[in-house]
Amino acid sequence: MLGVAIRSAITATMTSPRPTTYWDYIHVEDLLSLQGGLPGETAPPSNDEVLFITVHQIYELWFQLILRELQSARDLFGKDTVQEQELSGAVSSLRRISTIFSVASDHFKVVETLPTREYLEFRKKLMPASGGQSAQMRQIEVLFGLDERDRVLLGEKDWHMNILREPDGSEGKAYKRVTEQMAAGPSLRETIEQWLLRTPIDGVAHDDPDAEAALERFITRYLVAHRSEVEENMEYAKSIMAGGVAHEDLESRYQWEAQSAEEFLRPDEAAGGARLARIRAAMIFIETYRELPLLAWPREVLNELIKLEQRFLIYRQRHARMVERVIGSRTGTGGSEGVKYLDETALRYRIFRDLWAVRTLMIRPGATPELERPEFYGFRGDS
Ligand code: HEM
Repeated sequence: MLGVAIRSAITATMTSPRPTTYWDYIHVEDLLSLQGGLPGETAPPSNDEVLFITVHQIYELWFQLILRELQSARDLFGKDTVQEQELSGAVSSLRRISTIFSVASDHFKVVETLPTREYLEFRKKLMPASGGQSAQMRQIEVLFGLDERDRVLLGEKDWHMNILREPDGSEGKAYKRVTEQMAAGPSLRETIEQWLLRTPIDGVAHDDPDAEAALERFITRYLVAHRSEVEENMEYAKSIMAGGVAHEDLESRYQWEAQSAEEFLRPDEAAGGARLARIRAAMIFIETYRELPLLAWPREVLNELIKLEQRFLIYRQRHARMVERVIGSRTGTGGSEGVKYLDETALRYRIFRDLWAVRTLMIRPGATPELERPEFYGFRGDS
């Protein structure tokens, strides 16, 4: 009996898997062996240099997670039909990404403990390596939906791609990562636009024969309400501003608000025509009637998108301020104008431009135009 028990205990030990350890699961030893600096160097890197390498590695890991979440959200909105209950998953992904950007921006504080002169001690050997060679950052931009026409140009047209080539000019892993990302389907911005295009306006589905007319009715009603709000605000501003800004200046600013709302909701064919008008109207519609059950989650999506983009921009600006503090305005190791280039990217790299523009068009709840068929936005239906 005892022999049988011992034999089965031995067999169990031999066949049961090795209990998981923290170090195996996290690959701690592998991770800790990656901060040794360039291969072939005899002197070990200084603490400053190890900090520099480590922080970059941490960022690359964050970028990897961001890419995963962006992809999940993109795949969801890329479906022909997005169920209401799936939107909470998308919101969680977007929220995770903004949290990561926010935390990652904070890591620049750690880089700022690197004094300028100590950085200069090892900076030359990095050249011409540069953060501009972070393929994952380029993938994030592509997957997010940065319009290639918005890229800040640096001399040669495809600087941002050519800098990813191997030193002999060949297309290595970094270059391929980005080209494969470009070929791997639509961006999050494109899929969000497709989803918005399908938003029923005033309870009329996008493929209903009355869709165009319903859209036009909504746009007209909204623009009338908006213009009356702008005029009321203008009169109020004129009545309380005794001095300072001239009344003509005030008038032209408020008139611009009303005029730009018209142009925004009625773009001409060259700017995007009816398709763009529907996408923009959907954004305004969702924001305006967000308390209706069926619009609550779509509005969360829009809110998370703008929050995410804001944090991405803050990340770029934070990087630029850190760079200015550490190296001033000198030329970047990658050959750019350094902080000037980085500030330009923070200014120009907007993805959801229309979502930002919608902010200028929103009107207070008390002045919101009446909704046709509010009962449509009850607790049923697909988006
Ligand atoms: C002392 C620290 C750092 C300095 C002085 C610095 C400086 C620069 C400069 C000057 C550029 C412009 C391209 C060039 O000419 O090289 C750049 C780009 C970049 N850096 Fe940094 N950087 C630092 C740390 C970091 C860290 C910790 C990250 C985190 C990943 C990072 C990520 C990037 C990225 C992604 C770009 C490309 C930006 C773009 O092209 O849009 N940098 N950096």
